[in-house]
Amino acid sequence: MSAIPVTIRRTVELQIDDEAVRVPEGSTILDACKARGLDIPTLCYGETLTPVNACRVCVVEVEGSRVLVPSCARKAEDGMVVRTRSDRVDHSRKMVLEFLGSSVDLSTTEHVDRWNREYAAAPERYGPPAPPAPAGARDRAQAGHHHAGDGQTAATVAQPVKVDNESYVRDYAKCILCYKCVEGCGTDWQNTFAIAVAGRGFDARIATEFAAPLPDSACVYCGNCIAVCPTGALMFKSEYDLRQAGGWDEAAQTVTETICSYCGVGCSLELHVQDNTIVKVTSPLDHGVTHGNLCVKGRFGFQYVQNRAPGADDGA
Ligand code: SF4
Ligand code: SF4
Ligand code: FES
Repeated sequence: MSAIPVTIRRTVELQIDDEAVRVPEGSTILDACKARGLDIPTLCYGETLTPVNACRVCVVEVEGSRVLVPSCARKAEDGMVVRTRSDRVDHSRKMVLEFLGSSVDLSTTEHVDRWNREYAAAPERYGPPAPPAPAGARDRAQAGHHHAGDGQTAATVAQPVKVDNESYVRDYAKCILCYKCVEGCGTDWQNTFAIAVAGRGFDARIATEFAAPLPDSACVYCGNCIAVCPTGALMFKSEYDLRQAGGWDEAAQTVTETICSYCGVGCSLELHVQDNTIVKVTSPLDHGVTHGNLCVKGRFGFQYVQNRAPGADDGA
């Protein structure tokens, strides 16, 4: 009889808001907060991605640390004393939410309205949004050539939506530069490197090589960037079209788990269905093989299911 390998993990104990929490060594402060049932806001954090500490909305105060620390990345340590809701933490989160909310369209970002209320964030106090940039203007911005605002309006990243293929749209007016799509497309998963951050400062933006349209870029349409985008800046074309027509209704959708039939890998699919039509496809993050990722066939190859002959009974 062969021995069953047993992994023994050391644990660490820390104090979070005056309560002791014990977590496995290697856990982040965010993991420890979750274990204690605390709801910490996050935007750039992804369960399946390497932390990049881009948004700073998850910061907490750690005794002995001069600056606030991003809970999504900082490892929990034995004896650490953490405060998740001090004045300093709340003020910092409020500022982050206001800067993002005044410059980016967060209308399809989950939880933001609730967080704005919780942290008394008022993005509108920076003034009315500046007019959108003409198509392509932000793609042509050069590092170091940023112009000061007019002092009357809030600078924004507003610009026309990029619709250049039938699979997904890129609405960078909704982009908070969280880097999640870059990571998903790059070393974390896809290793295609079709997108990266171009520019500097307020002109920084997600771009394909030389801002090429998606069909002319290195993109392989795996859609793994859409799966991790927290704001809806990257969106299935089917979802975008329905939203434009005022027909997107998440409450009326069902999600059915199935197996992709295209090849022997057998990836898990979640089919989001509205009015008997597949409107988008996701994959469970906690799947041990795919970790939420798919290829172009599993992600977008669903049209054949619903190409019904005119007048055919679809069995609904
Ligand atoms: S669809 Fe895939 S290959 Fe294309 S940009 Fe997104 S992650 Fe990269
Ligand atoms: S497109 Fe989405 S995932 Fe990519 S940086 Fe912008 S907000 Fe983040
Ligand atoms: S969620 Fe931690 S820095 Fe963005």
